[in-house]
Amino acid sequence: MPRSLVTIDDFSNAEIEAVFALADRFLTEMAPPGKPWLIRGRKSWATDKILATLFYEPSTRTRLSFESAMLRLGGGVISAPDGNLSSSAKGETLADTVRVVDKYADLIVIRHPWEGAARIAADFADVPVINAGDGAHEHPTQTLCDLYTLRVGQREKNPQNADKSLKDLLHDLTIVLCGDLQHGRTVHSLVFALARFGARIIPLPAADEFDFPEHVRRRLARDYNCFPVGKKDLPEGATLPADVLYFTPEKPHQLSLWQPDRLDISLRLTKKEQRSLKGIKDVDVFYATRLQLERKDADSGTVEYPIVDSQFLKQKPYRHSRVMHPLPRVDELGYDIDRDSRGIYFQQAAYGVPVRMALMMALMELAPALEGAESAKAGKYPVYQNVGGIECRNRNCVSAQPGERRYLQPRMHIMEEFHVTLRCAYCDHEQSPLVMSRASTKKYRTDVESWREIRAEDLLFFADETAARQAGHEPRKTRVRHHEPEAAGTGASPR
Ligand code: NCD
Repeated sequence: MPRSLVTIDDFSNAEIEAVFALADRFLTEMAPPGKPWLIRGRKSWATDKILATLFYEPSTRTRLSFESAMLRLGGGVISAPDGNLSSSAKGETLADTVRVVDKYADLIVIRHPWEGAARIAADFADVPVINAGDGAHEHPTQTLCDLYTLRVGQREKNPQNADKSLKDLLHDLTIVLCGDLQHGRTVHSLVFALARFGARIIPLPAADEFDFPEHVRRRLARDYNCFPVGKKDLPEGATLPADVLYFTPEKPHQLSLWQPDRLDISLRLTKKEQRSLKGIKDVDVFYATRLQLERKDADSGTVEYPIVDSQFLKQKPYRHSRVMHPLPRVDELGYDIDRDSRGIYFQQAAYGVPVRMALMMALMELAPALEGAESAKAGKYPVYQNVGGIECRNRNCVSAQPGERRYLQPRMHIMEEFHVTLRCAYCDHEQSPLVMSRASTKKYRTDVESWREIRAEDLLFFADETAARQAGHEPRKTRVRHHEPEAAGTGASPR
């Protein structure tokens, strides 16, 4: 299978650095004098390549910057003008669409309202697939543009930073992520990357209901060792414009506080960690986002949404903050910042071209930037994918769509051995089953932590006893025995 970019996890930190080094080279060669962020002209680096763009949701920047990037590399572009005008409107599945389009193009960029749609595309296409946004899930290429913009900013701030790696540049960075952190896919991919590079992240949701979703907070803690620290646990002298700060300590912290379906973690800092946070007073970057109205329940009422303008930036922690925004903006970002050198969102959008040129060159194997054939993430957790038991609860997950169910079965990663937690392999939503059973005998039990006793092909998880009974399973009668007669299974297979 060719390498794809579906989630930001698909690239290692070193691979991201290598893609950026390539983008630097393109800018050095192609930027006009005085505009080092802009690509002009056309090269012949990908003359025999064709990009297909499949956009089932509105887009300006992402789609046009991908198309521009491919044209500037010397390649060509084909696209379905609108998802509703392609065969999906006739009921064609995603898997079929990409298995046709991969015959016409060397690379597919897809944007889709269903979470996990890009994963399906990558699983079925014979060419690399790039996720240009899948519902509220992820938008990894926007994150690459954001990281590149942050890297430029940190380098410009101090001449001594000129040759520093992204990790060295970002672990000194304090960044506020503001607005709709619940539904905004750009901030989901971004917060994972920031955690990986060790930045200090301050979430400023527009209201409690717009805070990071549970599955994002769990992934931050479990996959990146990144935890919220409450104001009361911060060292004296550190001032925060919010209640919590997300912090990635150097040493892994124990996850003994995991509860089924509930995450209740706040990190208590060691003395050394406290010292490292002592200096926090100013925010380096303020990342604003719009309210994702299209992903919000229609009946959830009106919202007081924060507005970032010159007046807002007069507050103490923000006086020197650079302001970023993935755009489009609506009312949350004042036009008065456009004339202010702190507002760098149009440059951020301009970097979309060199960064996407570099990304496509890497994925098409026209420039060496990726370490190997496999993504860094593959095979990390055991996979559970049996039909007849638990399914993803996220209604917007691609695995919950009736049309896609013709060929698709639920696929989940088993994340926790003790409080068994299943993470959907498409949309990353998590749940903790309370019951497990055997497909062969239909006898269920509640000691889910013993799931390895059942052969992978025979194992079924259920949300609870009611769900198991509804599926025709009955409680297993436990008899007192000296020996457990059942042979221990191999458990679920690695991916
Ligand atoms: C974002 C998106 O589509 O998620 N736009 C973009 O690609 N730059 C942000 C948004 O729509 O709010």
